[in-house]
Amino acid sequence: MSAAVVNPAGRAARFYEAPIGKKAVMAITGIMLVGYVLAHMLGNLQIYSSNRDQINTYAAFLHNPASAGLLWGARTVLLLAVILHITAAVQLFFQNRAARPIGYVKKDDVPASYAARTMVWSGPIVAAFVIFHVLHLTVGAVMTTRDVGGNPITPDVRYNVISGFQNYGVSAFYIFAMILLCMHLYHGIWSMCQSLGISHPRYTRGLKKASAVLAILIAIGNCSIPIAVMAGWLTD
Ligand code: HEM
Repeated sequence: MSAAVVNPAGRAARFYEAPIGKKAVMAITGIMLVGYVLAHMLGNLQIYSSNRDQINTYAAFLHNPASAGLLWGARTVLLLAVILHITAAVQLFFQNRAARPIGYVKKDDVPASYAARTMVWSGPIVAAFVIFHVLHLTVGAVMTTRDVGGNPITPDVRYNVISGFQNYGVSAFYIFAMILLCMHLYHGIWSMCQSLGISHPRYTRGLKKASAVLAILIAIGNCSIPIAVMAGWLTD
């Protein structure tokens, strides 16, 4: 009898070994991360609400102790998605390099957009930004942050964001990171469609445009906040 019975875990491992397996992992985790970034930006835009307490009410809702399991569940899934996304990206980079040890004689021959060529360093810089950002606004370890009524379950997000962006250096770093995130998302969303087989020459232009529009909207929404603070349009 043949011993070629492959169990599902073995099949998944073999699929992952091939570049397409890693691309699939990057695409699926990428969808989750884009979904988070979009939802997070829409949540942050509540800072413009005429109700000045709106964003703090929203933060209190997210930190509600009754749904702490949900919050930590979402954080765990997000962290796992980030780890898998970065691991697959690094492995794919080295796998591609090993498959092409001599390298191109003339790099200009490779038709790649600027965003595609910058993926290798826009990814690490965005990751570094996220670490700084969590230390800044979630942990409160970078700048002075405060809670409503001194209760850590109800952070004073409005004050923390506005006082943070009143520091021009911090605002400049956020805007720089958002521009890189925009480039990373533009190429990432487009590659994701290709990896998942959602591409056809007839739709290429449309898909590229849709990726650009989504990436630019996320960048504009996020950058608008430090800009509005520095311009004095958003005050605590
Ligand atoms: C101007 C743009 C942004 C603003 C104003 C902003 C604001 C905030 C605030 C206020 C928090 C703390 C929320 C809380 O404790 O309730 C937070 C957490 C976080 N932000 Fe942002 N954010 C921005 C952009 C981003 C971007 C672009 C990313 C990802 C690429 C990101 C990822 C995160 C993560 C992972 C957390 C931690 C979430 C958690 O504690 O569960 N943020 N952000």
